[in-house]
Parts: sequence; C-alpha cells; structure tokens
Amino acid sequence: MTDRYAVIGNPIAHSKSPLIHAAFAAQTGQDIQYDRVLAPLDGFAATVASLRENGFRGANVTVPFKLEAFNLANRLTERASDAGAVNTLLFSEQDIVGDNTDGVGLVRDILNNLGVTVAGKRVLLVGAGGAAEGVLHPLLEQQPALLVIANRTLDKALSMVKKVEEQGDFRFVSVNAYAFEDLQGQAFDIVINATSAGLSDSRLPLPEDIFAPGALAYDMMYGRDTPFMQFARAHGARVADGLGMLVEQAAEAFFLWRGVRPETAPVIRSFKVSAS
Ligand code: ATR
Repeated sequence: MTDRYAVIGNPIAHSKSPLIHAAFAAQTGQDIQYDRVLAPLDGFAATVASLRENGFRGANVTVPFKLEAFNLANRLTERASDAGAVNTLLFSEQDIVGDNTDGVGLVRDILNNLGVTVAGKRVLLVGAGGAAEGVLHPLLEQQPALLVIANRTLDKALSMVKKVEEQGDFRFVSVNAYAFEDLQGQAFDIVINATSAGLSDSRLPLPEDIFAPGALAYDMMYGRDTPFMQFARAHGARVADGLGMLVEQAAEAFFLWRGVRPETAPVIRSFKVSAS
C-alpha cells in the first residue's frame, strides 16, 4: 500500500515540497504519495487529526504552523526542542513525533553543496524570528569563530544569545547580538539572511563593507532575487538562495520517514534548470 505524507501550510499552493518528495521517491523506489494540504489558520490541530485518521504517516509543516506543530507533538527530537519549532511530523499509533530538519538542511547546503566550511569563520545571522532560531544551534555546532545575530528589534537577538549562554553548550564560540547600526566596520565570511524582509522586497540596512573578501551571502528564501541578494552581489559576495536548504531539509525528513537517504544534488540541479 502506498504510504501518504503531506506538507501543511497556509498558503500552500506554491510549495515545491511535493515535487521534491516525488523526485526522491522516484530515485529511491519508495512507494509514497505526498500532497499539499491547506490548513485553515485556526485549524492546524484538526488538520493533523484528520490526516492521521486517514492513515497518513507523516507531514512537513510550513508557515505559519511551525510553533503550533512544536506544541502539538507529544515527543520532540533534540534538534526540534533546540529550535523551538517543528517542520517535520512522524505519526505512529500513539505518538506525534516532532522534528526540525531546517537547520541541518541549511548547514548541509553550505557545507556539501556550496563547499564552504563554517568552522572558524565569522558568521552573521540576520534576523531573530522563527527562521533564525531554527538554524542557530546547527550553525553553532559547526564551531564558527564568531556568530553575530543582528535584528531590527535588538531585544529578540539579545534573548536568543541569552538562551545560548544559559544552555552553555557553545562556550567556545563567541555569540553576540547587534542592532544593524552597530555592524559598521565589521566584516563577515558568511552572512545569512533569515529575515522575512525579502517577502516585501524591503532592503536590510546592512553596511556596504559587511562582506569579507570571498564571503558567502545566503538568503534562506528561495524563488526570488531578494534585495539582500542583489545588495550582496553588488558588493562582491558569492550569493546563494534557499533552494538547496529546501531540498536538504526535505531529504532529512524523507530519511526520517523512510530510512533511506536520497541524493540531493540532482534534485537541486533540476529545480535550478526549471527556474532559469
Ligand atoms: P520567520 O518565521 O520567517 O522568522 P518571524 O518570526 O515573524 O518570521 O520573524 C521575521 C524576522 O524578519 C524578524 O527577525 C523580523 O525583524 P523584527 O524582529 O524586528 O520584527 C525580520 N524582518 C521582517 N521584515 C523586516 C524588515 N523590513 N527589515 C528588517 N527586518 C525584518
């Protein structure tokens, strides 16, 4: 019997996840069906309950339900509890297991697909919302020399740093919070945009010399050339969007569900070709 999965979000029509999982299934010979499910904004839990009643084995969760998914899961993986958000659910008779594959997806894209190491580098994480929280621990695990979180609302960046300090797991990494105006005169090897500013085509107030020579500018958003990407390109950085992260987080979810690790490079390539 074909095992069923879905991605739940609102909106959901433009999600590429069904195409990515169909490509993984074809590549690995796994017999799955993967659908898009639009949940009403006040109906996430009911949507999950109905999928379970209909025999679904798991789901991905996207905007705006990652926090609700975290609260709904009755078991959490360590990386989900570190992230404070869930993007992957695994259903069994008794349990809803919540995992988070976003951070590992970002780190694998940077390391394996872009060939950039994070260890020993100066990293700037821009944003302090859910997307930034989701990738903070996996980035710190790579042991950068320095990780700065910059956010329009400084308090949110400060509380992310405070949480890391309280946990005490990353004593060998210097982790700081800055407002945008405090970034003057600093340069970073890796600059990651985890804000949603690109959605409204807003420009981030980053200094023009923020990119160290050879820096990587990574926008976690995909499917559009954001003002951040244009700014980075104009100031000499190597630029990547979040397509590789999207495929990598999907691969990790697929592995969790199916116990088989699909190859990501051909899938990323095929999406790049179809977008150009
Ligand atoms: P997500 O889950 O995508 O992270 P979020 O939790 O609402 O969504 O966080 C959005 C992030 O984008 C925040 O860091 C937000 O900054 P504030 O904390 O100051 O709100 C940032 N952001 C959104 N629009 C922005 C803009 N135009 N300029 C700068 N930062 C912006």
